[in-house]
Amino acid sequence: MKTLVAAAHVAKKGNKPDRIFAIARAASEAIAQVGKDRVVNATLGVIYNEQENFASFQSVENHLKQMAPEEIMNYAPIGGLPEFLDAAIEMTFQGNMPENTYAKSVATPGGTGALRHVIYNYLEPGQKVLVPDYFWGSYQTIAQEHHRGIDTYRLFDKNNSFNISSITEKVEELLKEQDNLVIIFNTPAHNPTGYSMTDADWHQVLDLMKACARNKKKRIIILLDIAYIDFAGKPKEVRSFLRLFGGLPDNILVTIAFSMSKSFLMYGMRSGALIGLSSSPEVIDEFFEVNSLSNRGVWSNGTRSAQRLLVDVVKNPELKSKIETEQTAIRELMNKRVDIFMQEAQRVGLETCPYQSGFFITIPAQDPVESARKLAQDNIFVVDMCTGMRVAICGIPTHKIPGLAAKIKKAL
Ligand SMILES: Cc1ncc(COP(=O)(O)O)c(C=O)c1O
Repeated sequence: MKTLVAAAHVAKKGNKPDRIFAIARAASEAIAQVGKDRVVNATLGVIYNEQENFASFQSVENHLKQMAPEEIMNYAPIGGLPEFLDAAIEMTFQGNMPENTYAKSVATPGGTGALRHVIYNYLEPGQKVLVPDYFWGSYQTIAQEHHRGIDTYRLFDKNNSFNISSITEKVEELLKEQDNLVIIFNTPAHNPTGYSMTDADWHQVLDLMKACARNKKKRIIILLDIAYIDFAGKPKEVRSFLRLFGGLPDNILVTIAFSMSKSFLMYGMRSGALIGLSSSPEVIDEFFEVNSLSNRGVWSNGTRSAQRLLVDVVKNPELKSKIETEQTAIRELMNKRVDIFMQEAQRVGLETCPYQSGFFITIPAQDPVESARKLAQDNIFVVDMCTGMRVAICGIPTHKIPGLAAKIKKAL
């Protein structure tokens, strides 16, 4: 028998490698064997340009290159550079701060760090975070890592609209068992489907949350994961839904996972923030204390250069505008790729989840593992998820898209 030395709770995690990165590795191996031209790598949420090279923003690159060594290499304060904390709030809302609310932020390593803090600090051990049935697998990994669980509701109803009945049922069920409820909404440009919740969806959800909050024993934590927001439309317009979160009861806390990974195409620099929004200043002071303390206990400081970059962007309209121009170009490129895919999908009768924007398209599948395996035999690498297959359109150059929908249809 193998000798294992890790603590007993580690075995419960299942110790499986991250599924997405494992399939991405298989795609890289296929590229090494048969060449880039014969492989479709639709695995990671990373933008590749039309030449299939890693895409970055020239304006971001230039700005980082001229930074003083201290700004690149010194520690940032544990909670984040004070100016960064304001800049993260400014960039998140861009004029859409709801009325009658208090807001504070804490720097985190990417949106992942922010998600971690909410799942750990606002749920008791053993409690469950609520996510839709199509969800980014890391939510489960983070919950598991911290001895919490997940539960799911059906994201879409039979008309492919937001399924308010399913979320209502699950919220009521969970609130019978736990006093703290954390619900993650990854919108706009949801990973993996590309769905963006409408204002009408939000009105329904907020009515539900307010009804639940009438029981003052209950604490409802809405977690908005906005990782893809800058690829969902014009900056101000895509943020207008944030105005709906004003004047909520003090036992509803709105938290926002702000990420610089996708918005600035600087995934590896690990920067983001957790923003808290409440009608109660006490809840927000507690939010700041609890989450800054967690920073010290988990990863200490964040990446200073990334924080400085955000401060400079907010202070410098010219730099901000250059970045927005580059974001728009990427958004248009995504639209072009998606249009080609969707037109063919319609022609061959391939059903997709409702898509508005973002890095991924999802195909519902009966047996996603098997269908993804068949596609991999044809050197097409997509990620199987429990309810479908995720196609990372962000990684596929336009010339490789024709024919893809038909092949996926066949693999189903
Ligand atoms: C749905 C979703 N949320 C959050 C993130 C956060 O990423 P990061 O930790 O790099 O900011 C990602 C990244 O892939 C994501 O897909």
